[in-house]
Amino acid sequence: MLFSSRMLSLVFGVSVGCLVVSGCKGPDLGTAPTNCSTQAVDEGESPLMEPGGNCVQCHSDYDGPSFTFAGTVMASLHDDTNCAGVADVVVRIKGADGRQIELTTNKTGNFYSKVSSSSITFPYTAEVVRNGTTVAMLTPRSKSETNCASCHTAAGANAAPGRIVAP
Ligand code: HEC
Ligand code: HEC
Repeated sequence: MLFSSRMLSLVFGVSVGCLVVSGCKGPDLGTAPTNCSTQAVDEGESPLMEPGGNCVQCHSDYDGPSFTFAGTVMASLHDDTNCAGVADVVVRIKGADGRQIELTTNKTGNFYSKVSSSSITFPYTAEVVRNGTTVAMLTPRSKSETNCASCHTAAGANAAPGRIVAP
């Protein structure tokens, strides 16, 4: 794998932090996936970067663009970060008042939105759609739960079963 020097410095910065903070939950930083149902991705800082990574958190820690909703739709429930996700899946986020935003996953399965959280009425629900099949998240989510990647990790966090998987 090739890494930009910027990514290397991020890796170093975070690994130092991990020595101090117990139970480090830092973002995955370009590490090659070991469990991957598709293929490894090694993209620079771009819309295709770090599929499965914690976009919102890392961007807030390292001055990346600030997204309201962001994440990755993957091919398999427990695929590691930096494993290619699934393109052309529609991610629909539905506000409590019925207004929706629709995003489409890019080549590595990533989706993201900069929509202001004031233009969504909380709680929201979400669903993913492909080839006419829809899979929905049943639990409505609050304003503090817009970071899809924070729960939809490879193992699954906060009761999520794992990744957001393409229907
Ligand atoms: C490990 C940290 C990290 C993770 C995880 C991460 N990013 Fe980034 N990303 C960055 C940084 C840092 C920049 C800012 C680069 C700059 O401005 O020089 C960036 C920039 C970007 C940009 C702007 C690129 C450009 O051309 O200006 C996009 C789009 C982006 N990231 C999307 C995502 C998405 C989508 C995810 C999640 C699937 C994600 N990133 C996950 C660190 C990360
Ligand atoms: C706070 C944690 C959390 C966040 C944030 C979160 N989810 Fe979920 N998600 C869950 C849990 C838990 C489930 C399983 C229970 C359910 O359906 O509510 C789930 C289920 C899903 C499912 C259905 C999976 C299946 O196969 O049945 C989809 C699709 C989904 N989430 C998409 C999203 C999207 C898109 C976002 C961001 C806009 C998001 N989730 C944000 C926790 C979360």
